[in-house]
Amino acid sequence: MDKLLITGGQVLRGDVFVSGAKNAALPLLAATLLAEGETCLLNVPNLRDIDTMRRLLLSLGAESHYVSNEKRFCVQTSPTSPCLAHYDLVRTMRASIVLLGPLLARYGKAKVSLPGGCAIGARPVNLHLSALEKMGAKIDLADGYILAECDRLQGAEIWFDTVTVTGTENIMMAATLAQGKTILRNAAREPEVRDLANCLIQMGARIEGAGTDTITIEGVEALQGTTYSIMPDRIEAGTLIVAAAITGGDVHVIGDIAPLLDSVIIKLRDCGVKIESTPQGVRVIGNGIISRDVTTSPYPGFPTDMQAQYMALMCRAKGVSSIEETIFENRFMHVAELRRMGAQIEIQGPRAVVRGAAQLKGAPVMATDLRASASLVLAALAAEGTTEVQRIYHLDRGYEQLETKLAALGAQIERVSS
Ligand code: EPZ
Repeated sequence: MDKLLITGGQVLRGDVFVSGAKNAALPLLAATLLAEGETCLLNVPNLRDIDTMRRLLLSLGAESHYVSNEKRFCVQTSPTSPCLAHYDLVRTMRASIVLLGPLLARYGKAKVSLPGGCAIGARPVNLHLSALEKMGAKIDLADGYILAECDRLQGAEIWFDTVTVTGTENIMMAATLAQGKTILRNAAREPEVRDLANCLIQMGARIEGAGTDTITIEGVEALQGTTYSIMPDRIEAGTLIVAAAITGGDVHVIGDIAPLLDSVIIKLRDCGVKIESTPQGVRVIGNGIISRDVTTSPYPGFPTDMQAQYMALMCRAKGVSSIEETIFENRFMHVAELRRMGAQIEIQGPRAVVRGAAQLKGAPVMATDLRASASLVLAALAAEGTTEVQRIYHLDRGYEQLETKLAALGAQIERVSS
């Protein structure tokens, strides 16, 4: 298994480009199943999760090819499909659940492995299933699989008890080919939902309100393939901004990300980080960092996917900060590893209290989930000495060549195979 060796203390300087958004690419790739013919997605990041989705699409009868240096991913669907998303693939990527809606809408049946829990929480899919049942699908659970079928989904009014990003995306996709109108209330407002809707509309779907908490979809008879360029990854951008801040650097993060990261940029400015908008992105100048409290919440609030990275920064801030995680019940797996580097963090239920200005020291640490691994890399950049981050396959799921990007900014970081 690969690991990263990072020697801290380097000040990051220069330009870095943001890749396409993982959390937009995954539902968009699932959406290609809805369209007759070929759909090409541009700006698709080269990630493990993308390759997992490619293998799932292949198993579902959709031929695809990915030209990684052009970031171009084309999918050719077929009139029929085995409609089986196997456990062996689904267990490695819980976002596979977003195949359920498109399969039911296009082919009238689906057998999708239940994703199972994951490190950060139980992450049930009950809201996905209850919404599809309300649209007329017959849903059974057997042998760890979701068995779903329907003649044609019927439009319905759906209220999500909890804001769910992939739940909103799954049902929005299912509704594009349903009979009649579907209204999603308390829908997720994440930019990735809007990106998905924009592509579906290009395919011929009739959707209004994506990006707000109420989305209306008028079902149509069929969707056609299209070519669509994916939005930049706001979480990768936020991670790179924190890398500049935690090393006291001066970095130009290039990509149209400022409008997508309001809550993060405002919070980091409040912490003393200088962030200026430029025509190509944002320029980040790390000054003395001040401790500031934060609470995660659905968009447009502070994203849970930036919580671990923010915590690494707070370890270096002057003062004491409280970080409250309200979305997932177990998203503090990085705390134990940060403590091994000398961080002073106390967990009080959903809250982590960080005593800042700790002199972090390099140590062997272990990645446990995608954003936790990013947090450890950030802490290592500011730590004294060398840190060895193990199990970085977690990192490879969601960051495209992070070590290459950081090394180009002056970080002393290398990937070694062990
Ligand atoms: C998406 O996951 C993202 N993944 C996650 O990013 C992100 O952390 C999360 O949204 C929250 O923003 C993708 O978009 C591929 P949810 P998702 O459904 O859709 C509960 C990353 O690091 N819930 O919005 O699975 C759930 O348990 C990943 O890139 C139910 O109870 O998250 C959680 O507490 C990690 N029942 C809350 O809702 C359901 O049926 C929000 O989850 C669905 C969700």
